[in-house]
Amino acid sequence: MKVIAFLGSPRKDGNTDLLLKEVMRGVNVSGLEVETFDLNSMDIQPCQDCGGCDDTGTCIVHDDMDRIYHSIRAADRIVLASPVFFFSLSAQAKAMIDRCQCFWCEKYVLKKPVQAGKFGRKGLLLLVGGMKKEVGVQCADTCAGAFFKTISVPEHVTLSYLGIDKKGEILKHPASLKEAFEAGKKLVSWSAPY
Ligand SMILES: Cc1cc2nc3c(=O)[nH]c(=O)nc-3n(C[C@H](O)[C@H](O)[C@H](O)COP(=O)(O)O)c2cc1C
Repeated sequence: MKVIAFLGSPRKDGNTDLLLKEVMRGVNVSGLEVETFDLNSMDIQPCQDCGGCDDTGTCIVHDDMDRIYHSIRAADRIVLASPVFFFSLSAQAKAMIDRCQCFWCEKYVLKKPVQAGKFGRKGLLLLVGGMKKEVGVQCADTCAGAFFKTISVPEHVTLSYLGIDKKGEILKHPASLKEAFEAGKKLVSWSAPY
């Protein structure tokens, strides 16, 4: 089973990063490794809406998305981890998602969705927001849901934590770390196709 994760926070050892590490520990219990993409450190140009993928489902811009496209196709489990920024996902996460417009063309125009392997394709969304405003989670979850659907991940679980603002503050919320660990374990234990 191939598991990949996207870290959408620019803060090293920040709240999202720490939560994602717990998910990875949970996945590791099954002896699996997680291929992680630290989006902030990658060269990912914003989508230019150039139409270059319209007829082929392949992006014509070549940067670090080339590696991501390959991994998204091969993955059985996909984790997206982002802080809530301006009531949505971070720009780092959103830039990566927008570049998945080529998967949208492939799925909906060319009618060739990414095929699931024998484990099916499942998603996990991690969100951390500094404010206690649920609308941030709702907006981010809607965006992430569209991403997962586009890359043929029909279902995802969301773990969200609000009121966590300062760097590392999530460590004072032990339940969140345990929940993330358990979510990682569960993510890879769903072995049956849906
Ligand atoms: C640019 C920016 C925008 C933010 N917008 C929101 C927001 O709309 N809602 C919210 O709950 N928190 C917001 N926050 C606070 C972060 O979500 C919060 O600090 C979070 O813990 C950061 O997670 P990290 O440590 O993983 O980066 C914002 C922070 C920044 C830097």
